Amino acid sequence: MTSTALSTVILAAGKGTRMKSRLPKVLHEIAGRPMLGHVLANTRFEGSARTVLVVGPDMDQVADYAHSQRDDLAVVVQKSQLGTGDAARTALPELRDGEGVVLVVFGDTPLVRAGTLADMVETCRMSGSIVILGFEAADPTGYGRILLDNGKVRRIVEHKDANEEERRTRLCFGGPMAVPAAHFGKLLEGLSNDNAQGEYYLTDVVSLGRDAGIDCVCVICPEADIQGVNSRADLAAAEASLQQRMRREAMAEGVTFLDPDTVYLSFDTKFGRDVTVGQNVVFGPGCDIEDAVTIKAFSHLEGAKIAEGAEIGPFARIRPGSEIGRKARIGNFVETKKAKVEEGAKINHLSYIGDARVGPRANIGAGTITCNYDGYRKFFTDIGAGAFVGSNSSLVAPVKIGDGAYLGSGSVVTKDVSADALAVARGRQIEKAGWAAAFRAKNESIKKTSSGD
Ligand code: UD1
Ligand code: CA
Repeated sequence: MTSTALSTVILAAGKGTRMKSRLPKVLHEIAGRPMLGHVLANTRFEGSARTVLVVGPDMDQVADYAHSQRDDLAVVVQKSQLGTGDAARTALPELRDGEGVVLVVFGDTPLVRAGTLADMVETCRMSGSIVILGFEAADPTGYGRILLDNGKVRRIVEHKDANEEERRTRLCFGGPMAVPAAHFGKLLEGLSNDNAQGEYYLTDVVSLGRDAGIDCVCVICPEADIQGVNSRADLAAAEASLQQRMRREAMAEGVTFLDPDTVYLSFDTKFGRDVTVGQNVVFGPGCDIEDAVTIKAFSHLEGAKIAEGAEIGPFARIRPGSEIGRKARIGNFVETKKAKVEEGAKINHLSYIGDARVGPRANIGAGTITCNYDGYRKFFTDIGAGAFVGSNSSLVAPVKIGDGAYLGSGSVVTKDVSADALAVARGRQIEKAGWAAAFRAKNESIKKTSSGD
């Protein structure tokens, strides 16, 4: 290992009691991904030597999730929650001593940008100083205050330990801290719990460093980036803040939102250029929207790929495994699931198309349903190129409609239909001449003789 080595320590042992949840705090989701997932993604650095996740006892669920996201990860258990400094200390045996930089981040602060963390690491590496992330808090209550002395960071004082004057400081500590690895273990050993909360504070590393002649540099970021999550209300606020950030990024990349505040994105939503998204559209995880797609109001998409020039909605539900081809058209009250809708195909109204392929230029009439499930298994429906499925048809899978075939409206199709054939699978219409008139005449005479009540 060279001096460029980087170890990351993620603290997530806190119980998160204020969430009032069975789910560990860091597994609560923001933009369709657990908070911890955001932290793991934002600390995925080139050449990172080691990532150590600190969890509490009985947090196997957190460890399992972390392992599923990253294979370069060690998980350690902090037996009792004696503070952020103690949590960092728990990670020490997993760190390669003395090499490069140790970056400490909090699992409950998911909005810190990867670029900010990279800057901190770089500054630490170049200067050999401790680097902390600070922000100007609109309301600093509860946060550690960063105290300066001749323009230099002197120490961080926790809210509960601060005096009146110190509490007036709005420059607060956001959580992330980069420390030269050579000093990290020694500084942590020097921590005491002689403070208002009886905890070992990671933040005391700053004053201990200064006493030992190690400077501390503060990198500043916007308050919105370090929003911590301690309650459900904080979770909602962090969600709102990340949504706003992602919308701005999408618009900067050439997406039109007719009413941005009503469009909800996921952490991995991908857009091409000249996409237009109407009001009240929700993108669940796994959506890839190519160039020049139009998504109209009140549509819900998840796990879907929408190819160039396709039109979706209004009121469409595109479920996982849907691939909507170029210039295809999915209209109102249409649900698709595991459906490959090929180029130029149209499903314009009131349909369920699941476990199916709809060939290029096929036209699916209003009210068409693929009957894909028999209560035990799912079956596939294959609709050929240019086929025409009449309105209100049920396609009982497994079934194949050949290329260019025509299906009469109201059909319940249980057998394959050959290419270019016409299939009609419904009761034949019969007609009885004069029947209605005779029926009325008979009933009129009954009415006259009865009491009529
Ligand atoms: C901490 C900082 C405070 C800062 C704020 C920013 C300290 C002492 N204080 O306060 O200066 O302004 O974050 O959000 O560091 N954790 C453990 N083990 C423990 C205690 C905590 O792993 O024993 C983890 C928690 O799971 C959490 C993180 O450390 O992810 C922060 O702990 P928390 O108790 O929320 O610290 P704050 O009081 O918010
Ligand atoms: Ca916190």
